Amino acid sequence: MKVPALPVIDRVLFTEEEVHRRIREVAAEISSRYRDGNLKMIGVLKGSVFFLTALARELTIPVKIDFLSISPFSNHTRAPGVVRIAKDLDDSVEGEDVLLVEDIVDTGFTARYLLQTLAGRGPNSIGLCTMLDRPARRIVPLKIDFKCFEIPDRFVIGCGLDYKQLYRNLNFLAVLKPD
Ligand code: IMP
Ligand code: MG
Repeated sequence: MKVPALPVIDRVLFTEEEVHRRIREVAAEISSRYRDGNLKMIGVLKGSVFFLTALARELTIPVKIDFLSISPFSNHTRAPGVVRIAKDLDDSVEGEDVLLVEDIVDTGFTARYLLQTLAGRGPNSIGLCTMLDRPARRIVPLKIDFKCFEIPDRFVIGCGLDYKQLYRNLNFLAVLKPD
């Protein structure tokens, strides 16, 4: 793996190969779980786009995809705030097996809000899949159905995760260097 010499990187947490291998495993679990279902993956813009598309490419079952975005609350301090939907889904989720796909579940506020909102729209089922889980900062207890990695309490970039809107396109996960 070639790692660019970026001064913002403290250390690599998971290499591109490790991320891809784990995504393939989780995709196999999802393919098996929703084999007889009506899977629709819902991504949260912009962070989960990279993970969602990587996951979708490894599925062996049909899948629909839709996106929403939420209002930004502080990008820099990670402080949880009031979350609202800024751009809604294009289509209804009625009767579908909804899988909310997140880049990272941190405090859990975002995922809880989105799961509650989507549950109110008449899906057949609703599940949560996240690339990263940082349980140390969890405030809202949540059931995570599928996850790739648990991570320590450090700010992470790459694979869709940004710092000041940069580094989403890194193909590996890295810990940001503290200021
Ligand atoms: P929470 O679970 O509601 O606290 O919010 C999680 C959201 O905060 C994620 O979807 C990310 O957009 C952002 N976030 C949390 N931790 C990180 C991180 O380590 N790097 C980049 N974004 C993060
Ligand atoms: Mg996010």
